Amino acid sequence: MTLTRAACEALDRDDPLAARRALFDLPEGLIYLDGNSLGALPRNVGERLGHAVGQEWGRGLIRSWNAAAWIDLPARVGGKIARLIGAEADEVICADSTSVNIFKLAAAALMMRPGRKVILSEPGNFPTDLYVLQGLAAFAGDVELRTVPADQIAEALDDSVALLLLTQVHYKSGRLHDMAALTARAHEVGALALWDLSHSAGALAVDLNGCGADLAVGCGYKYLNGGPGAPAFAFVARRHHEAFRSPLSGWMGHARPFEFVDAYEPGQGLARALCGTPPVLGMTALEAALEAFDGVDMGQIRAKSMALGDLFLELVEQRCAGHGFEIACPRDARARGSQVALAHREGYAIMQALIAREVIGDFRAPDILRFGFTPLYVRYVDVWEAVERLVQVMESGQWREARFHQKAAVT
Ligand SMILES: Cc1ncc(COP(=O)(O)O)c(C=O)c1O
Repeated sequence: MTLTRAACEALDRDDPLAARRALFDLPEGLIYLDGNSLGALPRNVGERLGHAVGQEWGRGLIRSWNAAAWIDLPARVGGKIARLIGAEADEVICADSTSVNIFKLAAAALMMRPGRKVILSEPGNFPTDLYVLQGLAAFAGDVELRTVPADQIAEALDDSVALLLLTQVHYKSGRLHDMAALTARAHEVGALALWDLSHSAGALAVDLNGCGADLAVGCGYKYLNGGPGAPAFAFVARRHHEAFRSPLSGWMGHARPFEFVDAYEPGQGLARALCGTPPVLGMTALEAALEAFDGVDMGQIRAKSMALGDLFLELVEQRCAGHGFEIACPRDARARGSQVALAHREGYAIMQALIAREVIGDFRAPDILRFGFTPLYVRYVDVWEAVERLVQVMESGQWREARFHQKAAVT
């Protein structure tokens, strides 16, 4: 089928999520395909933050911990994320960063599986996942981080493994793991499964409880649109709450933080996963941002996400042949998250030239151009236009200009 701009416009007219785009403040003419890295700004966030700063902080001062219920933010925001990832409200807490939550949950998993010394993951997992596990292994002394390629994970699970830690959607290739099957396999050998949902939460119909997952973490600033450096979330299945012990046993996770006693006693339920004072402004922004999901069917999100990715790849195949791109993500949408990856030797410069034409994706070394599709605000016509501008970059040879080869600190 020959794809046309008019066909894309027709898809937008029929899109049940089309109206959600108006909830976001997107610059006119800009095509934003990087919501998998930093979500766009929801329109209600500025006003909500203005209120939190001016009124709650400015006027209410310390009283706002109670009067504005700041103290409840971690549980309240966690509860709102829960619906998006197939968890119960009391199984998710908003706290810390994804990296810190990986440390807390992986260490807790080791304590829940005494005698087992192996944490299993895969090479090429997102660096922070591997780095944090390396740090944890060095700290614990007798723990081994073992990595095996994705297709060998099921076999590598044996009774030495305490924890399997995987990222459900690979940050670079977009490849999707079978969470249900791998969790079941981990359970067969008595191991726990911890899923990094950074590239899944808000973009896929994640079903943690349906998959029997034990633990999960994820970012607040990607598809959840919580803003730069937004706090992250942690999921602990209710059946594990009693046994869960955080190695970062800070006062906010204490059963009675305002009794100021010397001895640590874990709080009720997932409150025990907290460490220090919650970042109120960041959580307020995230809480407001989550309203964009109110009433949204995650099945519709997933269906649109797959359609946008397929459209992009079909257009690239039709229009960019001969320009040296290789598809570096699963071609089958069912095996892919909400992003696509193209490999190209000159990927960095091509992405910079594309950004100069107001199409924002990103680059991941050594050669991957990454494009993320946030179904709440990306239109089919944006995909059309993005590929149109990619064709212009390639046909004009504009990416060869020296300015597009200057490496910035963040790619
Ligand atoms: C899979 C994955 N995990 C974790 C992170 C980041 O964690 P943090 O928010 O702690 O920097 C990212 C960031 O891109 C990621 O892709």
